[in-house]
Amino acid sequence: MEGIFMKGIILHGGAGTRLRPLTFSGPKQLIPVANKPISQYVLEDLRDSGIREIAIILGNIYPEKVINHYGDGSRFGVKITYIHQGEPKGIAHAVGLCKEFVAGDDFIVYLGDNLIQHGIKKYLDEFQNGEYDGYILLKEVEDPTRFGVAKFDEGGNLIDVIEKPKQPPSNYAVIGIYFFKPVVFDVIKELKPSWRGEYEITDTIRLMMQKGYKVGYSIIDGWWFDTGKKDDILQVNSIILDERIKREIKGETINSRIDGRVTIGEGSKIINSTVRGPCIIGRNCIIEDSYIGPYTSIGDNTRIIRSSIEFSIVLEKVTIEGIDRLEESLIGENAKLIKASKRNAIKLNIGDYSEVIL
Ligand code: G1P
Repeated sequence: MEGIFMKGIILHGGAGTRLRPLTFSGPKQLIPVANKPISQYVLEDLRDSGIREIAIILGNIYPEKVINHYGDGSRFGVKITYIHQGEPKGIAHAVGLCKEFVAGDDFIVYLGDNLIQHGIKKYLDEFQNGEYDGYILLKEVEDPTRFGVAKFDEGGNLIDVIEKPKQPPSNYAVIGIYFFKPVVFDVIKELKPSWRGEYEITDTIRLMMQKGYKVGYSIIDGWWFDTGKKDDILQVNSIILDERIKREIKGETINSRIDGRVTIGEGSKIINSTVRGPCIIGRNCIIEDSYIGPYTSIGDNTRIIRSSIEFSIVLEKVTIEGIDRLEESLIGENAKLIKASKRNAIKLNIGDYSEVIL
């Protein structure tokens, strides 16, 4: 596809406190869903909409892991510029660092932990055709207090957006995908930090409206996830496996049963086991005398022996032995879960903020 003259900004910072302990060793946006980092879905959505020049805004948590994964972008068919934000001072602050990168073009700001079902192309076209200065996406949610929330007048016109209101003026949450003309940089300069000490993108949008700039919106079809918590990540993993996984078996299967849409990577061995899709198993894994149930993603070089597991994400180089049965779990790299003996004693060596539910 031909590129278009618009730029993309992916926000890859933030503290990720709600996803500890995984975020002690990397940014939350690199947590894999169906064996692919969350922010890679974001990058691919931008690319598939015709955006070729992308800035990634890095935070303080292992930014080198982000650079290591995306490199100069050529592997993904885009050109990447890295911008260091350092301390998380808010989305508007991060955007404010990108004036030089944007260099007068229109642009999209995409939070690296937000995923939408059908991608941004349709809304990008609406933004461009409507000659808006700013354009936001909304989705009806049950509990809007976690998000920016839209306020409408009686005629249904958007009149305000409020960050995490205690008394939400509507059920329409502001999704973390925003379209802007460069005029937004002048507005950002006038912002003051909010009650949570951040330069808010919602305050930016409000100020744009107050100054008479044209701000449009669309209520999106399909699902949206802000993958800030373990349960959201497991749910989006199950949905993406359900929607996108094909049956593709590259590894070896010995005396095993593989049901439905299952992807198994090169070099993996499935021995005396049952695997039931939708599910993905990475490369060079060993699955022996085990059951891998639906909605499970297993990273490369992982060993699962005499265990059963379902509706879970297991990262790379994990060992699971003699565990019956694991559900709704998110297991970080190099973790070991082993049932050593028939005694009921539990021996643990787990990191800060780990959660063990028995
Ligand atoms: C941010 C925005 C908020 C938006 C949300 C979407 O919240 O400030 O307006 O609704 O992303 O994911 P934060 O992730 O900073 O809590």
